[in-house]
Amino acid sequence: MTSPGAAATDAFGRRFRYLRLSVTEVCNFRCTYCLPNGYAKSGAMDFLSEQEIGRLVRAFAGLGITKVRLTGGEPTVRKDIGELIACVARQPGIGKVALTTNGWNLARHIDNWVAAGLTHLNVSMDALDRETFSRITGHDRLEDVLAGLERARALPLKALKVNAVLLRDGLDDGFSAWTGFVKDRPIAVRFIELMRTGDNKAFFEQQHVSGEVLRTWLQERGWTPSERGADDGPATEFSHPGHAGRIGLIAPYAAGFCDGCNRLRVTARGQLRLCLFGQGGRDLRRLLVDDAQIGELQDCVVDALTFKPAAHALHAGDPGDMTNLAQVGG
Ligand code: 5AD
Ligand code: SF4
Repeated sequence: MTSPGAAATDAFGRRFRYLRLSVTEVCNFRCTYCLPNGYAKSGAMDFLSEQEIGRLVRAFAGLGITKVRLTGGEPTVRKDIGELIACVARQPGIGKVALTTNGWNLARHIDNWVAAGLTHLNVSMDALDRETFSRITGHDRLEDVLAGLERARALPLKALKVNAVLLRDGLDDGFSAWTGFVKDRPIAVRFIELMRTGDNKAFFEQQHVSGEVLRTWLQERGWTPSERGADDGPATEFSHPGHAGRIGLIAPYAAGFCDGCNRLRVTARGQLRLCLFGQGGRDLRRLLVDDAQIGELQDCVVDALTFKPAAHALHAGDPGDMTNLAQVGG
């Protein structure tokens, strides 16, 4: 059995402290870049149970994982999401329990989730005007998401961030709306370069723009990039003396993006994915049947890591076998 606290490392010396765990493939939104026709059921809806998730997280904690993010699909469509948060928070060694949500039911539940042990929250929100939001997500729910975000601001979360996908349609006017939004709100809004998936080729070709557009826009207006800490995620964040919040950029198409990769992913069906844009994965679910298998599960992860590729092949237009991010967990 792998010794507790030993950090999982790959062949390139990258250490993994962060697990992104998808808890469902189901999503109730229809984002243009992800599930434009909505979620289509595929196979049985037998996503990992709370008991399996507890075992899995315990095993990863023994490998040095200290932060777990619950993703989907939309993780909060699971009725037991509060129990899942509590279950992850209970595992020894897990100091950060994070959730990524589209925010549709945030206002109603965020108090309970924080009480259950949630420490970090990312809300996906692609636009600040009702019509654009509705066009992108297929749902007229901007007001609900904003209400949830305001409620979350009042709670003792260690981090609260907004993620928006950088789309050609949202340039310029969109940027100034967002800098206005963070003027008095101490929130980080991070733009993510639109990524090519198996499903979105035509949309990608119309809407992908390089993050350099945002970087230039910000720098021309006096925003300066902050120093990066060693354990920071992939975002570069910009700040401005007249603004309480920050604007960030996550640029998977930029050179060197994968060099600092510090995350592992497990799908809602218990497959270990070494890279968002890789091929296939290792089935961990067969090792989640009882507690006695934890050592074997850890050995399987450590072995798989030696095969983690140095970088994705998105530049060559190859998204691996990922059809959309709802399937793998963004
Ligand atoms: N490119 C970039 N980000 C994406 N997301 C989903 N699909 C893509 C894509 N093709 C991200 C968005 C969304 C979150 C759930 O996953 O940030 O809000
Ligand atoms: Fe939108 Fe996220 Fe749902 Fe995909 S999984 S449709 S990005 S809310």
